[in-house]
Amino acid sequence: MQIGIPMETVAGESRVAATPETVKKLVGAGHSVVIQKGAGRKAAYLDDAYTQVGATIAEDAYQGSQIILKVRAPQGDEISKISANTTVIAMFDPYRNTELEQFATQQISAFALELLPRTLSRAQNMDVLSSQANLSGYKSVLLAANEYQRMFPMLMTAAGTVKPARVVVMGVGVAGLQAIATAKRLGAVVEATDLRPTAKDQVESLGGKWLDVPMSEEEQQRAADAAKNGYGWMPGEQYIKDQAAIVDKAVANADIVITTALLPGRNAPRLIKAETVAKMKAGSVILDMAVETGGNVEGSKVGETVTTENGVKILGVPNIPATVATEASALYARNVFNFLETLFDKDKNFLINQEDEIQKALLVTHGGTLLFKRG
Ligand code: NAI
Repeated sequence: MQIGIPMETVAGESRVAATPETVKKLVGAGHSVVIQKGAGRKAAYLDDAYTQVGATIAEDAYQGSQIILKVRAPQGDEISKISANTTVIAMFDPYRNTELEQFATQQISAFALELLPRTLSRAQNMDVLSSQANLSGYKSVLLAANEYQRMFPMLMTAAGTVKPARVVVMGVGVAGLQAIATAKRLGAVVEATDLRPTAKDQVESLGGKWLDVPMSEEEQQRAADAAKNGYGWMPGEQYIKDQAAIVDKAVANADIVITTALLPGRNAPRLIKAETVAKMKAGSVILDMAVETGGNVEGSKVGETVTTENGVKILGVPNIPATVATEASALYARNVFNFLETLFDKDKNFLINQEDEIQKALLVTHGGTLLFKRG
């Protein structure tokens, strides 16, 4: 089949959906791969590297392709370039994408990688949320460290002692754990919390201190039930109040705060209020990784560094994986390749199989129908 890799069109998106490594495998499996001229350049994958592994470079990668691999969903005029019966694999942002109907109208089969059933072990090597969040967690600490006008590690010098930075991480999923590990490697003292009590052991194993929010028996049960699916639960009023008090104290004493709390399909929870930020020391830095979905921190703004009256910087860096585009593309492209393999049967025939648990979960449009339900 012809597989097309178009240039990304979303502003600031520097990743690419296939790398020379995955293209080599696709060509080896008998496919022809067409890369739009310069599609990988921002991620440091040059056209030559693709042609060396058997790809063709073209002005338009949509033309003649039966399968399209992208990082972000095609948008606007891009969608009209896609022929009927084409399969598109990308991160479609299905809960917020207002153009999904267009894919159905054009008889496009669209797979949204974010909808992967993450607790299935055979799906783990296709998990784009994990592969990208892991890199975001690492880079978020470096971005915050770069804005922080002091040091992370404790230093004993002839000119006196430098105190280690105090870092608080809110939300300890994939990104949060990597943020803790990175901050510890830089020499910081780290505290962290999450809705999921199972995160406690993980925080402690990385040398962090767990900020414990008391839970009622009923909440413990709900958290345990939710943990079976790998996800959090919706906390009640008392938990939110207790968490706010604990966070208020920890954040007020922190030098760096990294927030990573997301809720799939909903706006991010607001975890840090302006009145808490107002208690922080001048020079402290907050990085709100949830800024694009409403923000965990009151006052954070997408793409901006807000400096509050008391001298706290709130960083609202969007799309952090795109700031490590080479590595992020390498991991993303492997995830995409692993998923694409499931679309070929044992005789190597392309087959969309709606009985397959993974394909069924990801398929948002097919046969002219919008299958994804937002509610
Ligand atoms: P995420 O990116 O959706 O959210 C980040 C973290 O924020 C989560 O740990 C969540 O519990 C936390 N959070 C949400 N609301 C919060 C609140 N109000 N207060 C405090 N924390 C809050 O989550 P991510 O990183 O994509 O996955 C979370 C967990 O799901 C992973 O750590 C893992 O345990 C599980 N998971 C399981 C997989 C598997 O079983 N194969 C695969 C991937 C994830």
